[in-house]
Amino acid sequence: MYHLECIECDQKYTKSEVIYTCKCGGLLDVIYDYSAIELDVEKLRTEAPSVWKYRALLPIEANPVTIHEGGTPLYRCDRLADKIGIKELYIKHEGLNPSGSFKDRGMTVGVSKGIELGMKTLACASTGNTSASLSTYGAKAGLPVIVLLPEGKVALGKVAQALIHGAKVLSIRGNFDEAVVLVRRLCDEEQIYLLNSINPYRLEGQKTIGHEIIDQLGLNVPDRVIVPVGNAGNVAAIYKGFKEFMKLGITQSVPKMTGIQTEGACPVTKAFKKGAEDIIPEKNPETIATAIRIGNPVNAKKALRAIYESGGNSEAVSDEELVQAQKDLAQLEGIGVEPASATSVAGLKKLVEAGIIGRDETVVCVTTGHLLKDPEEVINISAEPITVDANIEAVRKAVFSK
Ligand code: F0G
Repeated sequence: MYHLECIECDQKYTKSEVIYTCKCGGLLDVIYDYSAIELDVEKLRTEAPSVWKYRALLPIEANPVTIHEGGTPLYRCDRLADKIGIKELYIKHEGLNPSGSFKDRGMTVGVSKGIELGMKTLACASTGNTSASLSTYGAKAGLPVIVLLPEGKVALGKVAQALIHGAKVLSIRGNFDEAVVLVRRLCDEEQIYLLNSINPYRLEGQKTIGHEIIDQLGLNVPDRVIVPVGNAGNVAAIYKGFKEFMKLGITQSVPKMTGIQTEGACPVTKAFKKGAEDIIPEKNPETIATAIRIGNPVNAKKALRAIYESGGNSEAVSDEELVQAQKDLAQLEGIGVEPASATSVAGLKKLVEAGIIGRDETVVCVTTGHLLKDPEEVINISAEPITVDANIEAVRKAVFSK
């Protein structure tokens, strides 16, 4: 049994209502009766992770729309740990989900819920990954999808995904924050189901990142989990996963949740540094990490609560710092991530150097999207391939030239 509840005024809504925010404007959370939920710890130890392994903690009754989301690897990264100067570092690579980002965890739950609610059309605004994922799950469900993208600011791979899966793709002459306002109005007025992370059911799927990290560490809790922050849903969702395992008596503590933004788009970090509970929206966000080029994150209050409550932190990194982290992941660990994803590692490095993260901590950095999402960025930051004639002398000369 579960219901929706406002995080501001505690107003309750039933699970059969199509609603995204409270009448007071507050964000909604899905509330369960945990005393009625049992997770088999033996099953946790033995069964391979996937979103639907944690079905007892998910708000879906019917058969879900699923294409094997979750169950992503948790890599131990000793070479990267050495370079940064910490004891134990893991990367949770969410880029290895079906559509190449963590959004698939939210979509398998959110789209399944939309079907339960009888919705016939699905929509989102997106910096790219949400649209790629929604288009994928809409196709699997056989439902039409509409996506609103900020013109010229979405990485190529993500646009390609939305197109091939058959979504109606609108390129908005405006930024992501403006697209969010438009899609919310469209969904309210036209009976279309909204699948941005303002939809609390999406975050229920994403909380399984927290469940999986505990599972993969043999039911141990890391000291800290570091997450890129854009629209600010994921950091709060993952924290909820950790809290649930504590409520169910599986663990005894939660990690310090640490949210990383970029210097050009960091309203959450600025609020954290002031000790504020909410953000001041930024008008013209700009960063190479287009996935998190967001000035007015809708879930900021949930994110800030997760960071404060867990004793975590927030920091902003420069584009140069995140590009270096992207190269380090690729060249020291064989992990290919898109620019936004590398902010977690860039933030770790910065906070270790500042003495805020201890060198003896066990840290998990979440990398949220796959390298191939944004091939153009990689080409722009890399040296050009060496063109040679098709003969062995030319090849040998190029191979041994400095
Ligand atoms: N990393 C990647 C690769 C993303 O695509 C996003 C968000 C985030 C991090 C931030 O997660 O919003 O939960 O704080 N992308 C959204 C989109 C906004 O439309 O694809 P968040």
